[in-house]
Amino acid sequence: MRVCETAMTYTSSTIEAPAAAQCPRHIAIIMDGNGRWATQRRLPRVAGHTKGVETVRSMVEACVRRNVSYLTLFAFSSENWRRPTDEVSFLMRLFVSVLEREIGKMHANGIRLRVIGDLTKFESHIQELIRCAEAKTANNQRMTLTIAANYGGRWDLTQAAYKLAAQAVAAKEVPSIDEVDLSKHLAMAYAPEPDLFIRTGGEQRLSNFLLWQFAYTELYFTDTFWPDFDAQALDLALDWYRQRERRFGRISAQLEAPKNLLSC
Ligand code: IPE
Ligand code: IPE
Ligand code: MG
Repeated sequence: MRVCETAMTYTSSTIEAPAAAQCPRHIAIIMDGNGRWATQRRLPRVAGHTKGVETVRSMVEACVRRNVSYLTLFAFSSENWRRPTDEVSFLMRLFVSVLEREIGKMHANGIRLRVIGDLTKFESHIQELIRCAEAKTANNQRMTLTIAANYGGRWDLTQAAYKLAAQAVAAKEVPSIDEVDLSKHLAMAYAPEPDLFIRTGGEQRLSNFLLWQFAYTELYFTDTFWPDFDAQALDLALDWYRQRERRFGRISAQLEAPKNLLSC
């Protein structure tokens, strides 16, 4: 099997079909519906973001309990700067306060934190906070929690292409490039491709999330708003996932039995 040199965990679903498994190793979530949750209750939109943090906490715990190795949460997209300034500022402050408050607990629980996205657009104290949190938790192995902040799938592919181009300029030749070469430079090259994508809040779109990595991810959409999404709702998504036949281009007769038969 061809494995990326930078990360032994990375395998490409388009180069080789991954082994069948009952439990997703990597879950990626678009946490959507905070604003509508609040509006329905005649609360300001930002109250939905505050409430959504409780769901983040319970999802991290639920995924650790279910032996999920990688959980990736979309917290702020490269397009979310287009929102009213007040809401953007509130989200930044919330991000900082949650990070400051939760990092000790995360570390104690064996969680490795990574933040992906164009962090250069954040104030320097936020960048520093992220760097410290990542460094503190770098050797933890129970679960990798990735927060996508000022992240966009197109930004990710563009910055990876730029790095390849810079290498070619330095080498004074244009090398042949395959998908492994490019994927090595993606912001989340340390993780396997997501097995399961969940989007709460009723919309059925990817909103510029992990465009490259979702090549063969199972896509699950639920109308439940993020602040209402709980462990039971997660289990419904996991039940749905277990019923998927992941063929990766093959036919049913070619498939092996799933390996980890224990329920997640
Ligand atoms: C998702 O909830 C949170 C962020 C994008 C930060 P929304 O704020 O998009 O909530 P809705 O979609 O407007 O209800
Ligand atoms: C996607 O939600 C981004 C995050 C959850 C961070 P949005 O609410 O911003 O997506 P659109 O604008 O409805 O596609
Ligand atoms: Mg939304």
